[in-house]
Amino acid sequence: MEKKINLGIFGFGCVGQGLYNVLNHTRGFNATIRKICIKHPEKKRILDASLFTTDRNEILNDPEIDVIVELIDDVQAAFEIVETALKKKKAVVSANKKMIAEHLDELLRLQQENGVSFLYEASCCASIPIIRNLEEYYDNELLRSVEGILNGSTNYILTHIFQHNKSFEKALKEAQEMGFAESDPRLDVEGFDAKYKLMIILVHAFGIVLHPGDVFNYGIQHLNDFDIRHAKEKNATIKLIANCRKVGNKVYAYCMPKFVPLSDTLNKVNFEYNGLILEGAFSENQFFMGKGAGGNSTGSAVLSDISALTYGYRYEYKKMDQHLNYKYSNDHVVEVYVRQKGKLKIDPAVFESVSIRYESPECDYFIAKINLQKIMNSEWLNDPDISIILTENNT
Ligand code: HSE
Repeated sequence: MEKKINLGIFGFGCVGQGLYNVLNHTRGFNATIRKICIKHPEKKRILDASLFTTDRNEILNDPEIDVIVELIDDVQAAFEIVETALKKKKAVVSANKKMIAEHLDELLRLQQENGVSFLYEASCCASIPIIRNLEEYYDNELLRSVEGILNGSTNYILTHIFQHNKSFEKALKEAQEMGFAESDPRLDVEGFDAKYKLMIILVHAFGIVLHPGDVFNYGIQHLNDFDIRHAKEKNATIKLIANCRKVGNKVYAYCMPKFVPLSDTLNKVNFEYNGLILEGAFSENQFFMGKGAGGNSTGSAVLSDISALTYGYRYEYKKMDQHLNYKYSNDHVVEVYVRQKGKLKIDPAVFESVSIRYESPECDYFIAKINLQKIMNSEWLNDPDISIILTENNT
């Protein structure tokens, strides 16, 4: 018989309300919201006040609540809630990619020590069922790479810039108003959010557990009109791409903007949609696309995890169990366009090779090959006058 589930929810923002909407439209699903813990009791709510509390212990200490749904913003508070819940043997569902990426080691240990489920499909690409696919379908070592668009807000901004000539600021404001962006939108714009998701993917794709500082992320905050024109002249757009790839025994990963030719599959992924291309040794390419941000799409993924708990689903971390021992390394050469407003100050010796050097009164740029580790260590990385974009020649 299907198990009845009592939910204790933390957070009733965009995703919490999305979950409430999708729960309301789901029949034959035996889950009841018992309590919702919120930070701002003064806010007007769509549900009866008796359902809310500001005391986290009212949920964590309630023996009737068997599933904790963590949907808050504060990373430290979120980790404490998840840790306490798992220690109390309560199953947890979370959408908090930053918290998960920053605490991967501890979260793996807590699941193992307490023998309870911790599911987080909603943390990666919202409505796209990527984690369970990596765990269950790609449960072998034949997967070669996962590449795609993992952040809805930046994709929304870039789509508006390229398709509607909208300004960056206006498109970002819209992404915020529609509930796609993080409360600190720098996490989206500077590529951190996509990196956190990529780190979670790395665990399920290749059994690799990293810390955020290990993986290179570079966002879209330095893009200017010259870069946009350059892309258009080359029949391309710019997308923020996250990529992890196995070559032999080595795995590399990064999150960076890339010139994506108009004919490329990833150019079908627009606005708040996310898209992933998985490459297997024999299956070759598979493409997943779906809404990557927003209350209802993220709420749907949370619901799917809650539903999976009714039949006792747990991630088995199969790639870790297989002891594949892949080595993570940033020792990987990429081809980049490096543009500087005014005259280039970068010493060309930093590059492996330079194929184009363009100079004009407005901007100079290089097309050059460079080791990822060297970009990460460069002192010009955060110079707002410099923009780095992967060329289309990178896999
Ligand atoms: N800020 C995130 C995004 C929300 O724009 O993709 C979904 O994780």
